[in-house]
Amino acid sequence: MVGQIRLVQSMEPSASDRPRPAIELIGLRKEFLLGKELLVALEEISLTIMEGEFFTLVGPSGCGKTTCLNIIAGLESDSGGSVVIAGRQVTKPSRDIGMMFQTPVLLPWRSNLDNVLLPAEVFGLDKKALRKRAISLLELVGLGAFAQRYPFELSGGMQQRVAICRMLLCDPAVLLMDEPFSALDEMTREFLNMELLRIWQDRRKTVVFVTHNIGEAVLLSDRIGVMAARPGRLREVVPIDLPRPRDKSTLVDPHFFRLVARVRGILG
Ligand SMILES: Nc1ncnc2c1ncn2[C@@H]1O[C@H](COP(=O)(O)OP(=O)(O)OP(=O)(O)O)[C@@H](O)[C@H]1O
Ligand SMILES: [Mg+2]
Repeated sequence: MVGQIRLVQSMEPSASDRPRPAIELIGLRKEFLLGKELLVALEEISLTIMEGEFFTLVGPSGCGKTTCLNIIAGLESDSGGSVVIAGRQVTKPSRDIGMMFQTPVLLPWRSNLDNVLLPAEVFGLDKKALRKRAISLLELVGLGAFAQRYPFELSGGMQQRVAICRMLLCDPAVLLMDEPFSALDEMTREFLNMELLRIWQDRRKTVVFVTHNIGEAVLLSDRIGVMAARPGRLREVVPIDLPRPRDKSTLVDPHFFRLVARVRGILG
């Protein structure tokens, strides 16, 4: 009996191997005042996202996805509850959090390399030391030859790849991505989904991703949080039990279609 217990214990992951909570939303609430009317953008959202997890939020327009990401990023204040990242309450932006938006938001007067280096300036880091890293990130996404060129010389998909590099510059533990590929055509989106999967599988960041594309959500995520609007709330969290690593073959797996249908059904 004692021997059996020992065996069971030794097979369990040690405390340091076990995934730890990366992002905790504890009764998160956000209200906006629209004239005299009080709008509840987020109504008591409680959710724990684990270290290295790829978590995606889907939901109808206006259900509070962007608001939720902005509060996690420390860009917006909450009206109640709290956000805790790696055990610390979020009160302001941090270099441990990288963010990406629907449009690349690159500065047109700066070279692509200098756009990638922007967070170094924002957070007062040594730009010279990060230059090598910025160049290798551009190489990683196939834009090594474009480092000294300018954003206007790139396609939309290439500009989003520069934005991916900028997000990764400070090696943040948490990546927040708000519909990063939604303005792109289907083929470019699929290409960047594969790029993102490759980078994430390699580096295991904690990701909170927002999309309207259910297929994209199922392809990328460990879990999908389905939200509802007015008031903005979490309706259901769906685990995505597709094997990893995932790639283009995942898109034709019958279980992939079942999961897409399940999420679509919850969204109504
Ligand atoms: N600064 C603001 N002032 C007042 N209301 C706001 C503000 N920002 C967002 N809202 C409101 O909060 C609600 C949630 O907005 P949010 O942008 O988070 O939605 P979303 O889920 O990201 O929508 P979409 O899918 O269209 O991007 C909306 O009703 C919106 O009108
Ligand atoms: Mg939004």
